[in-house]
Amino acid sequence: METPIFTSAARMLLKRNTQTFVRDGRTYRFTAPSSLHPFQWLWDSCFHAIVWTHFDGERAKDELKSLLLWQRPDGFIPHVIFWDQSRVRRSPWWWHYWETLGRFTFLPGIAKPQTSAFTQPPVLAQAVKRIVDATDDLTFLDEMLPALERFYRWFAETRDPDHDGLLSTITQFESGLDFSPAYDASIGFSGASGAKLLVRSRWPEVQNKILFNYDARRILQGRSYPHEDVLLNSIYVQGLQTLARLATIRGKFACADWAHAQAHRTTQALLSKCYDAEAGLFWNLFGKNETPSKVKTVISLMPLILPDLPRPIAERLVEHIKRSFWPEFPIPTTATDEPSYRSDNRMRGKRFSWRGATTMNINWFLAHGLRAHTFFDLGDELATRSRRLVERSGFTEFYDSRNGAAAGATDFGWATLAIDM
Ligand code: GLC
Repeated sequence: METPIFTSAARMLLKRNTQTFVRDGRTYRFTAPSSLHPFQWLWDSCFHAIVWTHFDGERAKDELKSLLLWQRPDGFIPHVIFWDQSRVRRSPWWWHYWETLGRFTFLPGIAKPQTSAFTQPPVLAQAVKRIVDATDDLTFLDEMLPALERFYRWFAETRDPDHDGLLSTITQFESGLDFSPAYDASIGFSGASGAKLLVRSRWPEVQNKILFNYDARRILQGRSYPHEDVLLNSIYVQGLQTLARLATIRGKFACADWAHAQAHRTTQALLSKCYDAEAGLFWNLFGKNETPSKVKTVISLMPLILPDLPRPIAERLVEHIKRSFWPEFPIPTTATDEPSYRSDNRMRGKRFSWRGATTMNINWFLAHGLRAHTFFDLGDELATRSRRLVERSGFTEFYDSRNGAAAGATDFGWATLAIDM
């Protein structure tokens, strides 16, 4: 449900966070997530585009066009684009250095990186579909389709080294869920030391950069990989199914068939390899032996976004939501009965992310997923409580899942998804 005040506040926020750049005589516009995140992020921009469709179809298209300017010929799209070079920090102690190519970019005479060296969950097809639905612009669709096909094929070709249909991340930051406890076991982290978590979670990036120059093939042959992430794969399947529909509209049947077959393969692999029938949950698999990471996080619930998830499995996931993911302000990014759960993401005073606070993009995915599986009451209740969060604390990055207080960057772009639930 949209209320006019809500909608205009969302619009104002996206407008305020908009940045404009000119490249080769063309103007590009995108919405930065917040003042603390002054660049363009891949999945954030897709969420922003979806919200933009409520008020301005052209502006929604801009989000994606400015992303695709940076797509490589092989299909890869980076997770961050550093449009404003003056904000890129050269410090070798800063993530701008570790998440990008180039060993010497910390030196003053060397060009700064323009993009990061890895990607993020592919919500791109979903965003394109929403724009096409809102604008009926088939020329835009024709412009997007080849780029979309390249992007989704790139995942299949570079991120599935064991050819089981499941994609692997090459760093936890690629899943979009920085510092999620679902990654703790794979990085050898336990306990509650913020300093240790910081070092352990960044260490794979140090190796990826220094040893492998972010070459995914070599990284995935390394000691601690692959890491087959359920959230990444669920979003990938949803994206492929959307791509198949879009391609069919334009008579691109070879593309539609490929996307459809690939979606089926990945869904089957999620069901046969990641689903734990005893626990009634999906787990990420890490390392050569595909060890399940048995920590209850929102990652385990994400297959709810897949329409062909078997009903008995969807029911088990819903039981978990009701039992372990339903504090006053659901859905916490980590289950409330996990030892690692922190309602505001803080560990010993230091703020991390995805360790138990609530965030709007996940609520958006799950509210729609619940309704698609006919859990209407729960889906509606989740949407209602999500809007209550915004009323209470504004559009922020995370919310304390116990009391709804702001717990992260303020004036945060994807929180506006509350108007699309
Ligand atoms: C954090 C989040 C990531 C998001 C980025 C920009 O790194 O974990 O998912 O894309 O911020 O908002």
